[in-house]
Amino acid sequence: IKKIGVMTSGGDSPGMNAAIRAVVRACAYYHIKCVGFARGFQGMIDGEYEELNARSVRNIINLGGTFLKSARSKDFLTKEGRAKAAENLKEAEVDGMILIGGDGTFRGGKVFSKEHGIPVIGVPGTIDNDIFGTNFTIGYDTALNTVVEAIDKIRDTASSHNRLFFVEVMGRDAGFIALNSGIGAGAEEILIPEENLGLERLLDSLERSRRSGKTSSIVVVSEGDKIGKNVFELAEYVKENLPRYDAKVTVLGHIQRGGSPSCFDRVLASRLSIKAVELLLDGKRDQMVGMLNNEIESCDLDKALKSKPVMNKDLLRISDILST
Ligand code: F6P
Repeated sequence: IKKIGVMTSGGDSPGMNAAIRAVVRACAYYHIKCVGFARGFQGMIDGEYEELNARSVRNIINLGGTFLKSARSKDFLTKEGRAKAAENLKEAEVDGMILIGGDGTFRGGKVFSKEHGIPVIGVPGTIDNDIFGTNFTIGYDTALNTVVEAIDKIRDTASSHNRLFFVEVMGRDAGFIALNSGIGAGAEEILIPEENLGLERLLDSLERSRRSGKTSSIVVVSEGDKIGKNVFELAEYVKENLPRYDAKVTVLGHIQRGGSPSCFDRVLASRLSIKAVELLLDGKRDQMVGMLNNEIESCDLDKALKSKPVMNKDLLRISDILST
């Protein structure tokens, strides 16, 4: 391996810059070249790349977003698109790719590696934390802190006005952000896709807490929850069934994807990305790096894609106890 390519793909996450920086610095440390591709797979197809050296990544460890930019490339879903990307990689003399992103990125990388023989290593970067083979994905911790900070503010006004707030958080099909931010922010109820508590239970719980003397409440709703109503319909439904409640909705949206990465995400990104470079140098291919019990490990990309990360359902019980 003489030259490694790096890119960021899919939804961006805080800490992606720290990850790119670590890839570039590890390459410099091991005396190999590094090339950065712009806009994920799309930049590989369009041949949009630049050589990066240790100084190219100065002053970015603290920045949110990704200076290489990110995209969800439709062209890469086609055989022709992938062939074009492989051609460009050959021309750039890239011997292996490090893909920083989520499951969509890894799926694309796996097909690409199979078709064109170019080794790839996945580095899990997504706020959703929905990847098997790692306890944490890059950006998740920062997103949690962003959500908690936002809900703290909502709590102030909810309390002043005796209101109930439904706060929708991201997570596509996974409830990790909702469950952990919900506990951290002291939510009354948390709705996640992994466990549908049902509408009745929600009404009961809200009614019980009102009777117990609570004057305001926060319900954290994961965007992928399975309760069968979107967050606005849910607020209407509660207002119809519990008319004493003045219910409001806040959708936090993309605010959760931005901001300066937490120290945890910077360290995680750095450790995972150095390992990714070392795996390529050791002749490994089609692996994903992850952190399990504070150790940096790797597993087959295939395995990471086929398995689901385990959600600690005990956190629901904890939430229940805390909202008594
Ligand atoms: O995967 C990260 C994520 O932020 C999800 O939580 C969310 O469902 C999705 O991306 C939003 O994607 P986009 O930015 O393309 O709308």
